[in-house]
Amino acid sequence: MNILIIGGTRFLGRHLVDAALSNGHTITLFNRGKTGPELFPQIETINGDRETDLNRLAGRQWEAVIDTCGYFPRIVNLSAQALKDSAGMFVFISSFSVYADFSRIGINESDPTGGLTDEGIEEITGESYGPLKALCEQFISQKFPERALIIRPGLIVGPHDPTDRFTYWPARVAAGGDVLAPEDPQVPVQIIDVRDLAGFIIHLIEQKSTGHGPARTGNIARTGTIGVYNATGPAVELSFGAMLETCKQVSGSDANFKWASVEFLSENKVAPWSDLPVWVPNTPADAGFSRVDISKALSAGLTFRTLSETVRDTLAWASTRPIDYKWLAGLDTDREIELHSLMRETRR
Ligand SMILES: NC(=O)c1ccc[n+]([C@@H]2O[C@H](COP(=O)([O-])OP(=O)(O)OC[C@H]3O[C@@H](n4cnc5c(N)ncnc54)[C@H](OP(=O)(O)O)[C@@H]3O)[C@@H](O)[C@H]2O)c1
Repeated sequence: MNILIIGGTRFLGRHLVDAALSNGHTITLFNRGKTGPELFPQIETINGDRETDLNRLAGRQWEAVIDTCGYFPRIVNLSAQALKDSAGMFVFISSFSVYADFSRIGINESDPTGGLTDEGIEEITGESYGPLKALCEQFISQKFPERALIIRPGLIVGPHDPTDRFTYWPARVAAGGDVLAPEDPQVPVQIIDVRDLAGFIIHLIEQKSTGHGPARTGNIARTGTIGVYNATGPAVELSFGAMLETCKQVSGSDANFKWASVEFLSENKVAPWSDLPVWVPNTPADAGFSRVDISKALSAGLTFRTLSETVRDTLAWASTRPIDYKWLAGLDTDREIELHSLMRETRR
């Protein structure tokens, strides 16, 4: 197939390129040429800003477009408008964060999405990110009726993750010693290896295409898998404790996990998700956060490599970064030592 990727050079995008190429597809990238411009010299790249330079895509046809970098409805709508007659299907990378309420265990694709009082806001915050993605989804679905594929991933992890959220844990556990861990080993975790996600997206696109040429966009299958998919893993519930044990096993470290209570962490201003990444406290309001229903994606062919493989490859990639690399998530050594000693004093 002939596939256009808006983006394609940071994290999910580069793995989408790999997955598509290894299945024999032809890729065109559209991006500004600022991020990873050296990555894919063999691929046609059209340089431009999606806000101002969409005219550079005029006169071309693609069986599918994948939008990895859409955050604001106005801007996503520009791409949808520009491509509605030249792309067979529009694949929008959205997020779990669209859901309005995480108190329910087993959120599925028909659960309500969040809203905004000011839908024109163009600033990403913890509150606006999800509802803005939900609005982007709506624009795409309007411009590509029965030709829109919406992917809602949970936390994406693995090699080239620019956030360090998951990467912190394999690296920290590999370093060994007392490792401050959040809440309780039984706290659930949902993550997806970026390569499994990329493979699933390309698989879905292949399933939906009738194989007709890009000019015949009306021939994209109107039934079957087109639609909305939660996409995370693993297939059976994973606990924080099991995740850390896998990190320990893979790295062969002597890590000794010290589980700190929510009260202790909160009193000491240790922030979930950033200071202790991947962790969201298991409160009633967030009981469903790491228990989102993925049965639709599983039925459509989502499969997973082992967590050990993800940990091993993440560690191998992280070790290629500069020695003075500044981590973007997790506790620094001094702060962690301080917290261990406070924990010993308060026995929590
Ligand atoms: N990470 C997670 O855990 C997570 C979870 C759920 C959902 N998601 C979603 O997954 C997606 C993943 O993003 P990614 O960074 O991995 O994608 P990516 O495609 O690997 O990287 C972003 C791309 O967008 C391009 N880009 C940025 N601004 C642009 C503009 N104005 N015009 C044209 N191109 C532009 C960048 O290239 P240039 O800079 O060269 O333009 C780059 O190629 C996001 O939509 C995110 O919301 C992520």
